[in-house]
Amino acid sequence: MESPKNLIIVIFGASGDLASRKLIPAIFSLKSQNLLPGKYAIIGVGRTIISTDEFRKKMAEAIVKFSEEKVPENNMISVFTEDLYYLSMDNSSYDGYLELKTFLQGIDDKYKIGGNYIFYMATPPSIYESIAVNLAKAGLCDQVNCFRRIIIEKPFGYDLESGKKLNKTLHELIGEDQIFRIDHYLGKETVQNLLVTRFANGMFEPLWNRNYIHRIEITSAESIGVEERGGYYDKSGALRDMVQNHLLQMVGLTAMEPPSSLDPDAIRNEVLKVFQSLQPIKEENVPLQVIRGQYTGSLIRGECVTGYRHEKGVAVDSRTETYVAIKFYINNWRWGGVPFYIRTGKRLPTRVTEIVIHFKQTPHHLFQRESGKLPANQLIIRIQPDEGMLLKFDMKEPGAGFNVKNVNMDFHYKDLANIRVPSAYERLLHDVMLGDSTLFSRDDEVETAWKFLEPIQKAWANNPAIKVFGYPAGTWGPEHANDLIDGDELTWRYPCKNMADDELYCEL
Ligand code: BG6
Repeated sequence: MESPKNLIIVIFGASGDLASRKLIPAIFSLKSQNLLPGKYAIIGVGRTIISTDEFRKKMAEAIVKFSEEKVPENNMISVFTEDLYYLSMDNSSYDGYLELKTFLQGIDDKYKIGGNYIFYMATPPSIYESIAVNLAKAGLCDQVNCFRRIIIEKPFGYDLESGKKLNKTLHELIGEDQIFRIDHYLGKETVQNLLVTRFANGMFEPLWNRNYIHRIEITSAESIGVEERGGYYDKSGALRDMVQNHLLQMVGLTAMEPPSSLDPDAIRNEVLKVFQSLQPIKEENVPLQVIRGQYTGSLIRGECVTGYRHEKGVAVDSRTETYVAIKFYINNWRWGGVPFYIRTGKRLPTRVTEIVIHFKQTPHHLFQRESGKLPANQLIIRIQPDEGMLLKFDMKEPGAGFNVKNVNMDFHYKDLANIRVPSAYERLLHDVMLGDSTLFSRDDEVETAWKFLEPIQKAWANNPAIKVFGYPAGTWGPEHANDLIDGDELTWRYPCKNMADDELYCEL
């Protein structure tokens, strides 16, 4: 495997949750796998006034708590934290960046890094632009015999206009090849495996189109609520938080044409083409194609669960959606007429992300089935948990007659190798170090995704009569979401934690 060049990672917002829960444990895991460069240092930057020693202590605790490495050895952790530094600075004042520059130079000289810096914005999105402007003004984005890269977390703007503005500001300062927009779903092994499933196997491609596929369903369900993030979430909602990025990226990878190579732009060009082919949803059709909901208080397994409006940081009359389901079409030769159904929600019965390919029924029904059950094969690509693939098809029940039973054939990703599946952040941080942007959202993809969602955002903003359906926490969201699905008796799949099981309420 290629090794990254010596570098320094600067994390803005280092005293926040993302740094301690995800970033530092992910960098630690890279270190444990010998995937970090020979020389590197990590500088945490934040407003909180703490010393480097305190920062190291806090991060060591975070590694013990959140690392996915089995029982991290204390000795390894202390060796790792020796290369962590902390600078407390006011990131809204330019002087702070001059201080950062001097600090960086000191560490660079100490480690003999040679000027390669990665800046990670783990801050509230409202300050991305000002950080980038100040970094550039301080000369910290200039690449002379070295690289300078900026990583930004979603949301990339709040709508089409702000998304474009953010891109424009960044492009005035740095090149697109220096910008890495993280969508952590793209870092998930099983999301990348979608490409392999589709393009390494000859048997799927002939069926992967409107001639054989009836509909495609993508679900990303979470059992948790908004937890401590009410303040952020209430201004965001499921559409911005999950659909604009994670769900549409999964649509892109499921629906794209085979790329000409594995070159980052070859893959992203194909995803972009899918986004460009999304049939625009007319504002007046939003109530027919989009269902939104919000969880209400309920009892889950005997425990009282707070409704969304009573969560910390949420307005008591909030109309922010914690659930959204959308029906749409992709206007191209492969997918013309095939409905795509996507849904995501918080406080649903279980945490599961999966893509369901529903194949068309046989043209003629020869055999006897349980009443109401129609023949149709399903291929389920399970992103998480119990990662794998499940094929549902019909077989003859042993005995007299021709009774048909739907059976499962499943493959569990964990059976593939006895190794830990790397976390999304490990994969993505390593890719940024190598300068590989394949798994990062490009400017045009982000803008096209916002463009598709714009009529939904406008309809909700302009028409208060569009309902926000309440759904009791722990249920599968508003029942009205089933009305989106064409065809009598058809519903969403109700997946369980275990890939092979499904039922309205099954093992959680
Ligand atoms: C994040 C969202 O991007 O993805 C969160 O902001 C959500 O609201 C999370 O909980 C889900 O990620 P995962 O990896 O747990 O499916």
